[in-house]
Amino acid sequence: MSGRFIVFEGIDGSGKSTQLARLADRLTAEGHIVWTTREPSNGDIGHLIRLGLTGKSKLDEATIALLFAADRLSHIEEIRAHLAVGELVLCDRYILSSLAYNSQRLTLEWILSLNREADARLHPDLTLLLDLSEQEALHRIEARSDVVERYETLSQLYQVRQMYRMLADVRPEDNVTIIDASQNINTIAEAVYKATAEL
Ligand code: ADP
Ligand code: TYD
Repeated sequence: MSGRFIVFEGIDGSGKSTQLARLADRLTAEGHIVWTTREPSNGDIGHLIRLGLTGKSKLDEATIALLFAADRLSHIEEIRAHLAVGELVLCDRYILSSLAYNSQRLTLEWILSLNREADARLHPDLTLLLDLSEQEALHRIEARSDVVERYETLSQLYQVRQMYRMLADVRPEDNVTIIDASQNINTIAEAVYKATAEL
């Protein structure tokens, strides 16, 4: 397996970063070259977005949605450079995050249009959607006890989860596999690994 783009999606607290790290370790141990990354990215635009999400910088919803799309376009160039040399790229969030989250307060049509260029440039070979109830996700977020971000209330997490499940059905280009994220970490890691083995 080489030059594959694998994306983790799911509501906040669904276990994306835990599972991404587990998969990266396993694939690395098998001898693959793995590059891990995330959106918002670690670049300048990603940094600005994080300031907006935590309320440290005042940014309205539409501006943040535009920044997510801009961040993604520069990130795609970086991802492609890694794919070109045959690496496995594991990414925490991608286009589906914009469609699921930013369409809560803005129209899905507009968010889709902002992401049209990214959609044309790069699709995931596999999207792992970690599906978890909003109650369990919030419980985990509170236990993690870091800064609670803009989208982390029960009703928002519920809406985002429903949106993800709908998008998984209507966007075959994202190659979504839905994983039951209510299971224990080892069981989920096994399901995630099995999904990648089919690539
Ligand atoms: P995300 O990246 O999707 O926000 P994390 O991987 O940070 O989620 O997980 C959120 C919290 O839940 C962390 O404290 C993590 O240790 C814990 N966690 C992750 N997976 C599970 C699981 N399957 N069962 C119980 N707790 C989990
Ligand atoms: P992240 O740091 O991954 O949060 P967590 O680790 O808690 O899952 O993402 C930050 C927030 O940004 C998260 O609530 C989802 C949101 N987001 C969007 O609204 N649109 C996007 O395009 C992306 C990539 C993230």
